[in-house]
Amino acid sequence: MRVCALVPNAGSGARMKTVLPKQYLDLDSKPVLIHTLNILNSAKCINEIILISDKKYIEKSRLLIQRYNIKKVSRIVCGGKTRQESVYRGLMSIRNTPDIILIHDAVRPFITQELIDKSIKTACKHGAAVIGLPLFDTIKMVKDNCIEKTIDRNNLWRVQTPQVFKYRLIKTAYQKANKNKFSGTDDASLVEQLNHSVRIVQGSERNIKITDQKQFKLVGGN
Ligand code: C5P
Repeated sequence: MRVCALVPNAGSGARMKTVLPKQYLDLDSKPVLIHTLNILNSAKCINEIILISDKKYIEKSRLLIQRYNIKKVSRIVCGGKTRQESVYRGLMSIRNTPDIILIHDAVRPFITQELIDKSIKTACKHGAAVIGLPLFDTIKMVKDNCIEKTIDRNNLWRVQTPQVFKYRLIKTAYQKANKNKFSGTDDASLVEQLNHSVRIVQGSERNIKITDQKQFKLVGGN
């Protein structure tokens, strides 16, 4: 079985308000992106990694991959305006057809081998799997600083990456979304549009997405 990992890395990190996008900032003396790539690179079940970077940072990404000797990265693809466009470009660049595609955000450097293995196994069996966690806080719908209503949280989960799919399924989902101009904030929502069920694999609180300065400092960034 061949597994190809796609790593969307083309965000500008506007919420961080730093000159360099957050994926290039150091965490424990290595860029966030390198932590993420190292974990994917050492996953036994992943055969190939395709990195998707902003045009401006392709050379920087290439040099980092060389410096940290990340062998499974086969190519760096130029990203698009949105995450969805970036992933689409990564998918369309694939030549050596894999069985499984694992999509993981560059800005989630605390992913574990256990979650990678579990999500791949589930996708092999059911076609589509995403990492997620149930919600324990009470969720409100708010408008103009006033609560409009309370949402029943019983069936609510928040999802993370990796999001893992059979190759044909995710390719069809992205092509259909592109054709219908459907935009979603994650990969699973595009598969849901095909009426294909997506399994949830219980994730970890540690698998955070680095979003802003305050949170980056909390996890040891500088
Ligand atoms: O913007 P958001 O936090 O949802 O980004 C999640 C991931 O998608 C990040 O790793 C980011 O670099 C990537 N991304 C991308 N292309 C974009 C926007 C975001 O590859 N145009």
